[in-house]
Amino acid sequence: MHYSESAAARAKVAKTVMNDPIELARQRLIVALDVPDARSAMRLVAELEGTCSWFKIGLELFVATGPAVLEPIVARGHSVFLDLKLHDIPNTVAGAVRSAAAFGVRMLTVHAGGGPAMLTAAKAALAGIAHPPELLAVTVLTSMDGGQLLATGVDRLPSQQVEVLAKMGIGVGIRGFVCSPQEVAAVRSLTGPEGVLVIPGIRPAGAAIGDQKRVAGPAEALRLGASYLVVGRPITQAPNPAEAARAILEEMSGAL
Ligand code: C5P
Repeated sequence: MHYSESAAARAKVAKTVMNDPIELARQRLIVALDVPDARSAMRLVAELEGTCSWFKIGLELFVATGPAVLEPIVARGHSVFLDLKLHDIPNTVAGAVRSAAAFGVRMLTVHAGGGPAMLTAAKAALAGIAHPPELLAVTVLTSMDGGQLLATGVDRLPSQQVEVLAKMGIGVGIRGFVCSPQEVAAVRSLTGPEGVLVIPGIRPAGAAIGDQKRVAGPAEALRLGASYLVVGRPITQAPNPAEAARAILEEMSGAL
């Protein structure tokens, strides 16, 4: 195909995507593959193929399988968010970030609680890497409420602590954050449109809340300023995961 034809074809596809609210929603829904082994993960990926295009690999799966689980998911053309929530001394985190960047993942998490020196080292570790993952700083886990936070010595509301951590991250050049739906509007006002805000704690109407504390529905989280939604159990433990994902995409599309 002549270059200009292929560019025109690409532009046409891009225009179709831009006009398709379900496709737009699909690009912003990340399914958390919180399963114990590669077999269960690949079964879910196969069931959700064609419906979802982003998958999050977290500690449960990564500790069980190591990086081997990433390759087949990336090879199938999916986007991978590696949620390792790194939290260690700056030198150790920088090394882990460099190692993780080699896997071709598109997002990677570190804990904002590691402090400005750790965040700076993590960011510096990505300098010069072609197509680096988006570095996301996890603020306060969505499973934490005021009581849990106080037990760790932090005498602030979760919303106040999220703002403290987000401001600290922005101060050292971080633009990606993970927070709950309840803080997303405040964090968005700090980052502006450049911020990449990845939001777990999403529960469609009627879904079990489980161990999450600060939750919201998919459409509401988007309206509040989320860039991406992370959904685990409401999809992965549904009797029909693809159907559950389609219902969430439908709800998201109404807010886009
Ligand atoms: O099953 P559920 O939808 O609650 O899964 C949420 C996912 O988001 C889990 O994989 C969890 O590790 C992750 N997460 C979170 N809170 C954060 C960061 C990540 O729940 N602050």
